[in-house]
Amino acid sequence: MKSFKWALALGVGLAITQTSWAQFKNDEEAVKYRQGVFTAIKVHYGRLGAMVKGQVPFDAKLAQNDAQVVQVLSALPWMGFTEGSEGMSEHAKAEIWMEKDKFQQGAQALQSKTADLLKAAQSGNLDQIKLAFGAVGKSCKACHDNFKQ
Ligand code: HEC
Repeated sequence: MKSFKWALALGVGLAITQTSWAQFKNDEEAVKYRQGVFTAIKVHYGRLGAMVKGQVPFDAKLAQNDAQVVQVLSALPWMGFTEGSEGMSEHAKAEIWMEKDKFQQGAQALQSKTADLLKAAQSGNLDQIKLAFGAVGKSCKACHDNFKQ
């Protein structure tokens, strides 16, 4: 009985470890996940953009919130590019899976620029935010030029 309980505990432990590796139910879900995260990034980055462009009044607190969300989200889309999901979205080029290091570098660049953006937002200085906002936009574009259809 004791060894059965151990085996059960071990089995549950393994199951948990395995689900934490295979994060998605299937590759469709991985595609939805990464696209959903990108959509959320766009919304919050866009809200900052409206402030940067003077379309809405600058609100330091809101800017900080949006920068925080963008920074957290910028760590996420990448795990949705699973091996099996290659070719499942017409917008995700095959180069993502062929030039993994380069894609990875683009992902890191975004995360580093969004960290700078958060720092700028925390400073409350709109000029600094504008600069950091532009740098983030460049990393979005650089990756899209290479890897997005
Ligand atoms: C390292 C590469 C990379 C970076 C950096 C990147 N993207 Fe993308 N993005 C992609 C790829 C690849 C797709 C296509 C994903 C797919 O269709 O599965 C995509 C798709 C999108 C989409 C469409 C999502 C949908 O519904 O299909 C939006 C919106 C988007 N990105 C916004 C952004 C914004 C805004 C940034 C910067 C803040 C950014 N991306 C940075 C690679 C990147």
